[in-house]
Amino acid sequence: MSEVHQHDDAKARFSLRVWRPVVSRALLQRGAVAGLVGAGMAVAAIETALPILVGRIVDEARKGEGASLAPLLTLYGSVFAVFAAGVWLFIDSAGKVATRTADRLRRDCFARLQQLEPAYFDVRPTGWLVSRLTSDCSKVSGILPWCMLDFAWCTAILVGVTATMFAVNARLALWALAAVPAMALVSAVFQRFLIRAGREARRLGSAMTAAYAEMLLGARTTKTLAREEANLAEFQRLSGEMNLWAMRGAVLSSIYTPLIATLAAAGGALVLWQGAGEALAAEGITLGTLIAFMQFAALFAQPVQELAQRFADILNASSAAERIASLLATEPAIGDAPGARAPHGHRIAEMRFESVDFWYREGVPVLEGFSVTVRRGQTVALVGSTGGGKTTIVSLATRFYEPRAGRITVDGADLRAVPLAWFTERIGIVPQVAHLFAGTVRENIRYGRLDADDAAVEAAARSVRAHDFIAALDKGYDTEVGEGGERLSTGQRQLVALARAVLRDPQVLVMDEATSSIDTATERLVQEGVDELLHGASTGGRISFVVAHRLSTIRRADVILVIERGRIAEQGSHAELIARRGRYWELYTNQYASDREREVLHLDAAKHADGGVGATVASLAGGGDDDDE
Ligand SMILES: Nc1ncnc2c1ncn2[C@@H]1O[C@H](COP(=O)(O)OP(=O)(O)OP(=O)(O)O)[C@@H](O)[C@H]1O
Ligand SMILES: [Mg+2]
Repeated sequence: MSEVHQHDDAKARFSLRVWRPVVSRALLQRGAVAGLVGAGMAVAAIETALPILVGRIVDEARKGEGASLAPLLTLYGSVFAVFAAGVWLFIDSAGKVATRTADRLRRDCFARLQQLEPAYFDVRPTGWLVSRLTSDCSKVSGILPWCMLDFAWCTAILVGVTATMFAVNARLALWALAAVPAMALVSAVFQRFLIRAGREARRLGSAMTAAYAEMLLGARTTKTLAREEANLAEFQRLSGEMNLWAMRGAVLSSIYTPLIATLAAAGGALVLWQGAGEALAAEGITLGTLIAFMQFAALFAQPVQELAQRFADILNASSAAERIASLLATEPAIGDAPGARAPHGHRIAEMRFESVDFWYREGVPVLEGFSVTVRRGQTVALVGSTGGGKTTIVSLATRFYEPRAGRITVDGADLRAVPLAWFTERIGIVPQVAHLFAGTVRENIRYGRLDADDAAVEAAARSVRAHDFIAALDKGYDTEVGEGGERLSTGQRQLVALARAVLRDPQVLVMDEATSSIDTATERLVQEGVDELLHGASTGGRISFVVAHRLSTIRRADVILVIERGRIAEQGSHAELIARRGRYWELYTNQYASDREREVLHLDAAKHADGGVGATVASLAGGGDDDDE
């Protein structure tokens, strides 16, 4: 996890292109963006005009008796009212632009993630993706409107004030501007350091988030391995370093702001120094103009500071923007080919793997020249050592991945030339690790077929022997299963997943039997459930792929494939394979022996002593349907 994080945050190269998806979504809020930019410019115009107005009022007041201040003061008041309205409008618009842009980005990212193929998620940790959807989206859409506003406002003020000053008095204008280059220089230098400090703090922050996540996920392992001290030391190092950078940032900021204010004041002082004599001698400029110019000089401080700040914001959020841009630009690798067409006929009659090669990583072949044909009503069982490629085969059958060479066909049509939705509608999956969604048991079963009524849900649960345990839960079918089904045991989750598959009644059933150990009573239930799913009354027209770890599951399979290192080592029916006394026979006797041992150790030690495994197995070669436990 940490690798992905650090890699992303360390990248600081700056490119405005990564902002395009965010900006284009922000610009969709035409009204709000117009309000934002318009209000920013209007406020800037008022801020530019105010010093002039104040100067006029001063000059008018100095006339003494004949002064008519009322209209000017009324104007001053109304200008302030407009100013307040402008401020309200831009804050309101910025809020709207920010929230709506974030909303659009989140939806688009979510939709895109749903379209992406499982392989995309193999290399990206869940936590990383979650922060893309949450913090990155809010971060970029949060700063964007303020950047738009400030660029409009700052430009308007800088241009407006400069132009006004030159129009009134060019010589004083030059003096008022004298401090601006120094301000720009100071800003550039300080922001460089501030950006660096921000980036370091962020990098360390993500490393710390990763450390938190690993600590939480691995809490048990850490305890058993007595890793606490080492982990804590590492975490303290990260936290201390982060603290250091955050402190540096805080110290720099505390110097930066007063420094800019001092420079602005220096500009004002220059104006005063140059203009005071002239004003007092009434040579060319009035006292009002002098006051206006001093205000102008002070006006430069804020825009310069804001621009520098916004520029830093953009840099800071650039990696977030880049991650969003790259997610949105990722095209799903598995989707409908142009001209994809559903095969004739509503039901799938045959599925075929034709010399399929597959690898996850180039150069590490997982499947080589794998071929098999399965017809409607048949069950293919896959068995073999761990890591042999069984899950990979069923993942190809469900089109989670696509063959690197060779092809998979349904009724003669290449799976890649069939609409994805057409195929997905017809498959049902019971994965190796049953996944439940937060919600009730009923909702989780109904997920298999959304229009199923309660009676159908219950019938499905009954058929896989899940009903009894569900009925015994405190709220029965309405019991909440918790996030990921955490409130149910592993075996119970599997029963729910089986019920879901039965309810779906798929044309192609893919089942990856769980390897995790469950208690014997639940295991027996799961076995019966699986048996019902594979051989029950409603299964006549189905194609089933089943990965079996409990070999008793598959004695009735039409064909058993023994998969070793991505190839078919043996194939045939249970009876044929037992008779051959090869790899399958080996697996079967091993498992049978250990099952027997377990049972016998508990029940009858004497019987175990004289009943050798070989003798018992010979009697099994007929492949009965009996329950061997
Ligand atoms: N997402 C993946 N990325 C890279 N390699 C993978 C991935 N999934 C599986 N592999 C590799 O492919 C090979 C086959 O794995 P697969 O999961 O198909 O085995 P399996 O027969 O289902 O094993 P098990 O009986 O333990 O479930 C293994 O060597 C595994 O390390
Ligand atoms: Mg597997």
